[in-house]
Amino acid sequence: MKFFVDTADVNEIRELNDIGLLDGVTTNPSLIMKAGRPYAEVTKEICDMVEGPVSAEVTATDFDGMMREAEVLGKIADNVCIKLPLTLDGLKACRALTQGGRQVNVTLCFSANQALLAAKAGATFISPFIGRLDDMAIDGMELIEEIRTIYDNYGFETEILAASIRTVNHVKQAAMIGADVATVPPATLKALVKHPLTDKGLAAFLADWEKTGQTIA
Ligand code: E4P
Repeated sequence: MKFFVDTADVNEIRELNDIGLLDGVTTNPSLIMKAGRPYAEVTKEICDMVEGPVSAEVTATDFDGMMREAEVLGKIADNVCIKLPLTLDGLKACRALTQGGRQVNVTLCFSANQALLAAKAGATFISPFIGRLDDMAIDGMELIEEIRTIYDNYGFETEILAASIRTVNHVKQAAMIGADVATVPPATLKALVKHPLTDKGLAAFLADWEKTGQTIA
């Protein structure tokens, strides 16, 4: 499973990238707002730092506007992946952009039929939003399962990018179902390493080592 980090905070991205955990980054207009910096500047900085795809979202809602914005975003760096909303105009732009060789992430997916349309439009990634479905008492993980089945039935190459992840269990469940990618907030990504028995075991080993009076280096 690939890991993307879901943030536009360059310090968080640098830290995770230096550990070697990152296969890409996803941003969206709300995350750019949170970062409080000009979108082009921050997107360029992220693209220079991370080798994999960096999703940058259009804000136009019509096909022509999306194509114009995609051109501007695409000029920022080769690894910019254009993020388009799951609308008819978005699907049309998806087809046009992927045919032109650009990576596209179709976002705001809440149903298996939407994911089927995105795959038929040649999307590189489909982003089903797990957490926002869970918030409405609908099991977001079921959607990941449905999309996995449909994509496998027809051999679609569109990658399932589990998004709107809120917990470490979301990551585990998405991995067990076979989502290709998870885009995860920085704090949740770091929390994946935590286990109380790891901390307890390490403390005990270090205490015993101290009793030996030895040093390794
Ligand atoms: C995905 O690309 C989105 O940026 C993100 O996962 C949305 O998550 P949220 O529902 O926590 O805002």
